[in-house]
Order: sequence, then structure tokens, then C-alpha cells
Amino acid sequence: MNRKTFIRGIGLGTLGAFASSRVGSATTMPADAADAALPDYSAANDAAFWNAVRGQYVLEPDLHYMNTGGLGPAAKPVLKVFADAVHHNQTISEHDHHAFEGAREVTAGFFGAEASEICFTRNATEGNSIIAGGLTLAEGDEVIFESHAHPGGSGPWYNQANRRGVVVKLFEPDSKSVAANLANIRALITPRTKVIQISHVTAPTGILLPAAEIAKLAHAHGIWFHVDGAQSAGMFPFTMAEIGCDSYATSGHKWMGAPHETGILFIRKDRNDEVIPISAGSYTGRIPMNKDNRLVADGAMAYANNASRHEYGTRNAASILGVAAAIKFHDKVGRKRIAAHGRALSTQLRQGLQQIPSIEVLTPEPPEMCASIMGFRTSRIDYNDLLGVLAREHRFRLRPVSEQGLDSVRVSTHLFNSAQECELLLAAINDTVRKA
Ligand SMILES: Cc1ncc(COP(=O)(O)O)c(C=O)c1O
Repeated sequence: MNRKTFIRGIGLGTLGAFASSRVGSATTMPADAADAALPDYSAANDAAFWNAVRGQYVLEPDLHYMNTGGLGPAAKPVLKVFADAVHHNQTISEHDHHAFEGAREVTAGFFGAEASEICFTRNATEGNSIIAGGLTLAEGDEVIFESHAHPGGSGPWYNQANRRGVVVKLFEPDSKSVAANLANIRALITPRTKVIQISHVTAPTGILLPAAEIAKLAHAHGIWFHVDGAQSAGMFPFTMAEIGCDSYATSGHKWMGAPHETGILFIRKDRNDEVIPISAGSYTGRIPMNKDNRLVADGAMAYANNASRHEYGTRNAASILGVAAAIKFHDKVGRKRIAAHGRALSTQLRQGLQQIPSIEVLTPEPPEMCASIMGFRTSRIDYNDLLGVLAREHRFRLRPVSEQGLDSVRVSTHLFNSAQECELLLAAINDTVRKA
């Protein structure tokens, strides 16, 4: 069933009759969100270019925001699309669910996927939960994921352990080699392993895990491979085919710079049927009805044949238009350029941190194992105290990492950050550590 026949068959009724009875025009795709005033990039105007990018954010001028791994700010053109759509939809009191379809095309393009493979969620946790709750698993079936998983990645599986007796197995992510990570996962595979999940980039210390290789390993054993990409979408470009996953969940409100409470779930089209919706209603599929549109008690619900079967109920279309606007803004700046910039700043931090006495850098050094997150700790001062000084005296927003007893600091470097900011941060850390 494609989307059109699904909508016709849905009996929602409602939707067709309703659309033609509306008294105002809904928002279509936003005016080009890439309308940001940015100079053309050249190596000679690198600093001016990134300065202009910074000017596209409403972040307070003296705030050094380096916690995109927690929450990413949206650029002005994205906020405008979002705010205009919120307002417009209120002026005619319509939800404008139709706007999802244009945004779905744009989002599919971003991930090298088909529109039918894209579901708009509210956050990464919801995407992970749809996979954990939607796959058919029996008591004793096993899932493998890393011990550094964020609660938004681990919670959905511990929930299935509570509800269905799914067995959780944890591997320790290795920060030295790709081969070690593969070996750690391989060692846990048994005939009962049904799912392998990884964080594409781990949240606590920014380890870039070898998704493509893990995909091959999983598929060689007939195991579903799910990627929690909360820390990768928008940090660097890649396609779903390149990472070879069956499903991938991410947040819009981190590295992609989409409005708060946005997420994307990709499900490979040839595996779509294997994920049964955990919530159902409008947009999920065909509710059993007779030809007079009356519910029948003995019919079965038919699910829509695409990833959007996991969307249900009234949503805020402005947020979804904001996702498309954020993608257009990234395209305007340049996705590869953003990745290279974030990585260069992270490398600058690594090199500077290595010069400061007592600092231990936790993020792996091999380029294929890291990107735009840098984690470190020092034995000289408690990590929370260090963060406090950096926040109060220097206005740096970083993230404390208490997970797994790491007791460390995480720095995220993204398109609105600069080399100058990293220098200031290094000087502030150096000063604080030496005085401690
Ligand atoms: C790896 C990972 N997964 C899931 C989440 C949760 O994201 P969300 O708040 O969008 O559900 C995070 C948030 O930091 C994360 O880092």
C-alpha cells in the first residue's frame, strides 16, 4: 500500500473531505531556509565565513556553547520557518499534517534514503523505543549494545527486558582499535542474539564506532542491526547504505540544529514489515471498517507499508518543517565543511589538552574513531568543580560525564564554534588545573 492508497483506504475520513473543506491554505514547504546571508567560502576567508555562520544563531554573544551533544541550537532561518509555521497554522487553526510529506522528501535526501523509509519522531529515544518495542522478540532473545549507551539507547531495551524477558548483553567500547570493537561484539553473539545496537558515536567520550563493519557482522548472523545516531546525524555526512543498518534513530535537536522535540527514524524498506507499531491511530494504517465507515469488531488492522506507520495522532507540523529547514541550512553551509570544521576544532582541543599537566584525553585518537566530540579528565580537580569554574568565570557550556564512572568533561565542537573559542577554553582549563 503506498501512501496515497493508504490515505484513501484509511477511512479517516475525514482526511479527504476535511482537506477540501478547509478555509485557509496550509503551510507548504517553507520559503527557502537556506536564505541565510553567508559569504562564499574560501580558505582565505575561513575565519570570516565561520564568524558569519555564528551570526546566524541567537546564542548570547558571550556564551561559548559547546554542548551540541546535549542539545543543538537552531539557526535563525530555521527558527523563522518554525515560528512562521506555528503562527500560520494558528491563524487558520489547522495542523497541516500534509507538510510532513515535503519535509520527508528533504529528510530522505539527507540520509540517502527513500521517503517511505523515514518516520518523524519526537526524539531519538522514541525512535530507539519503536525498534525495541516493535520487533518480534521472545523471552530469552538477546540484544547486544555498548556499556556507554545513553539512557535513550539503553532504556528502550531494559524496558523490553522488563516487559518481555529480552536479555541485555553489554560490550565495552574500545578506544584503541576498530578490530577490538568488532571482536568485543563478536564474542557476545549466540544463536539467541536477535539485535545488535550501537551508538554511531558514543555519547560519553565520542567514540565513532565502525557501523559498516558491524552491519556486516550482524547480517552474517541474521541479526537486526540498529544504530542510535543521536550523536552522528548533522555531525558528519553519511548515507544509510554506507552504514548498512536495518534501522537508524536520531534526534533533530542536536547536531542537525532542528527545533526541540524532533527526531527521525529510518527503517529499511525491505524490513519495514518486521517492526510492528507500538502506538497506533491516525496515520498508522487501515482501521477495520465496513463499507459504511463503521468500525467492525472482528477485523484486523492493516499497517501502512512505510516507516510513517509509526507516526500517529496530531503533531506540530512546524517542527517537521523545521527539520527540513535545518537540513537546507546545513546544505547551504556545506555538510562536509561542517564535519571538517568540527573535527579540526576537536583536534585543536586534543593537541592543546595534551600539553596541560594531569589531563587525560579519553576520546580515541585514530581519525576513523573520532569526530567532533572531545572527552577528557584530570586528577587535579573534580570534573564538576572544573565545569563550574569554566561556566561561571568563562561562560563555557560543556557537559559533565558521570556515566560509567568516567567522571570527565565532554566538549562538542560544531559549526557555530571557532578556533578562537577553543584557544580560550584551553587557556581557561590550563589556568584552572594549574591553580587546583
Ligand atoms: C547516543 C544517544 N542516544 C539517545 C539520546 C537521547 O536523545 P533524545 O533526547 O533525542 O531522545 C542521546 C542524548 O544525548 C544520545 O547521546
